[in-house]
Amino acid sequence: MSFAFGFTDEDLNDVDIHDTKVEPTSKGKIESALETFNVLPEHQPRIHCLSSILQTLEGVRLTFDNYITAGGHIVYRRELYDVKHQIMMEEKDVSSKLSELLIERNDADVQSNVYEGGFKSWECSFDVVDAIHAVTEKSGLLNSSILELGCGTALPSCYIIKRKFEERDHRSMSLLVSDFNFEVLRLVTIPNIMINWASTLAVEELHRLTTDEVNSRFENNEVFITKELIQEFEKQLQLYNVQIVPVSGSWGREFNQLVGQYKIDFIISSETIYSPDTLPVVAESIKNILENAGTTHGQALIAAKNIYFGVGGSVVDFLTYLNSIKNSHFEIEVKEIADSSLRRSLITIEYK
Ligand SMILES: C[S@@+](CC[C@H](N)C(=O)[O-])C[C@H]1O[C@@H](n2cnc3c(N)ncnc32)[C@H](O)[C@@H]1O
Repeated sequence: MSFAFGFTDEDLNDVDIHDTKVEPTSKGKIESALETFNVLPEHQPRIHCLSSILQTLEGVRLTFDNYITAGGHIVYRRELYDVKHQIMMEEKDVSSKLSELLIERNDADVQSNVYEGGFKSWECSFDVVDAIHAVTEKSGLLNSSILELGCGTALPSCYIIKRKFEERDHRSMSLLVSDFNFEVLRLVTIPNIMINWASTLAVEELHRLTTDEVNSRFENNEVFITKELIQEFEKQLQLYNVQIVPVSGSWGREFNQLVGQYKIDFIISSETIYSPDTLPVVAESIKNILENAGTTHGQALIAAKNIYFGVGGSVVDFLTYLNSIKNSHFEIEVKEIADSSLRRSLITIEYK
């Protein structure tokens, strides 16, 4: 995998490999996927309180690594083995299915309707980081209402947070991070956001906030989450007018209604169109959320591998579906990324 910097096989997804015939998603008239998509009661979407999640992290030492994208941008991410370690230490709190998957079977690949791959960073999320960098250079992304749909390790959101605090940008921003599994939000999404924020602090300040007499270890690749660090994080979020909103549960109509109150004008989604069952839901949700936000200019950045061999989703199917439901307010641009044998695309959707 020539695109990867510092990945282990375990950390990267490997959904590819055996060749299958990809059936077109839509045949004839397309039924609204949002109407027919069935969400089980236990997968109903929910907004969580950031403070409550942060409290569960107090006293946890996060081990992370830094990654450099093809465009040369740094982003930090919690190590997967460190996540597993936390799960083992507090097993009673984690859904037993997830624990069984990650610890006993040592398998962090997608298990449909149980776990959708959020603990690992997928390759296209690095492409999105580069794309976000370009957008932030060009226009004011940092004062948007942003949704990262199917965020997992949320590297694009982490990069946004890192940029915002590095730039000392005080314009108001809402950042919704959504994942199928609450435990992904708690164990990787929010820790990653916190690590990336912490990277913007002066070293002396970080040292002061993350050590005490009992916990005096201070390493380059660790952040010890203290009460003081959490307080400072929340204080700075307020100071910089940032609202972080974790959303768990399944996509669908209820999800769109729930996030709709935040008037989302920027959607990011990396590697979420791999399944023919949910690919139409992603397409319709993007259209639905942007149309209902009451914005004069909405945008979405969707990154994906061109074909998900053995799974069935593809960029062509996604575009076919999107083109069949979109109206004249939407413009779609596709950029192919062919810097390795794994062909990927970045789809920009403009709503005006
Ligand atoms: C393959 S992972 C990609 C994670 C991350 N965006 C990345 O690129 O590293 C797919 C993501 O989509 C989300 N997802 C998949 N199906 C979903 C569904 N039906 N409802 C909500 N989220 C879903 C998962 O939670 C997961 O985070």
